[in-house]
Amino acid sequence: MLHLGILGSGSGSNMQSIVDEIEAGRLDAKIEIVLADVRDAYILERAAKHGLKAQYLDCAPWKTKLEGPAEDECIRILKEAGVDTVVLAGFMRIVKPKLLAAFPERVLNIHPALLPAFPGVHSWTQALDYGCKVAGVTVHFVDAGTDSGPIIVQKAVEVLEDDTPESLHARIQVQEHIAYPEALSIIASGKYSIEGRRVRIVDNRRR
Ligand code: GRF
Repeated sequence: MLHLGILGSGSGSNMQSIVDEIEAGRLDAKIEIVLADVRDAYILERAAKHGLKAQYLDCAPWKTKLEGPAEDECIRILKEAGVDTVVLAGFMRIVKPKLLAAFPERVLNIHPALLPAFPGVHSWTQALDYGCKVAGVTVHFVDAGTDSGPIIVQKAVEVLEDDTPESLHARIQVQEHIAYPEALSIIASGKYSIEGRRVRIVDNRRR
């Protein structure tokens, strides 16, 4: 069983998709703690509704990274909660080597693009502006770069002629909510290996 620590900043719809799969008995995992760097983030409310341990993590003075005393505190809280796998679910900060070292090859992120295309923010708008016919979502291990670690799961989403950033993002989110639980079930199964950039999945019955 995976012992998850979820870090978020916003609505928490990805966390919800993970909660739903766990509650339905389809994902062998337990959410040990939810941390948000935004005091009134809806992810904290969602967590409370499901009786999950959840708290605000003050990440000042930095706005875009998790470093220094806040990083130490984050690691302490995650370890104390018994977390073995860290799930970044809409966490709007760069995580640093210290956190990665505390959970080696066990920090995951979801990015709303088919990486390596369009890292960074508003990637669905970038895909639309570029004229892509296909967009999508990537779940990957986190490494020291930005949106650059080994890829676990990707889902493609067709770009429609009349798409707006909002409509495309909405369809990408539908796929996000399938992709994250799928990636976690691969990790939970233990039936994978990381070979350089490639994550080789030995037995992937969910596909
Ligand atoms: C998602 O689009 C995710 O891909 C991105 O941030 C958003 C988080 O949404 N990294 P939510 O908080 O899970 O609803």
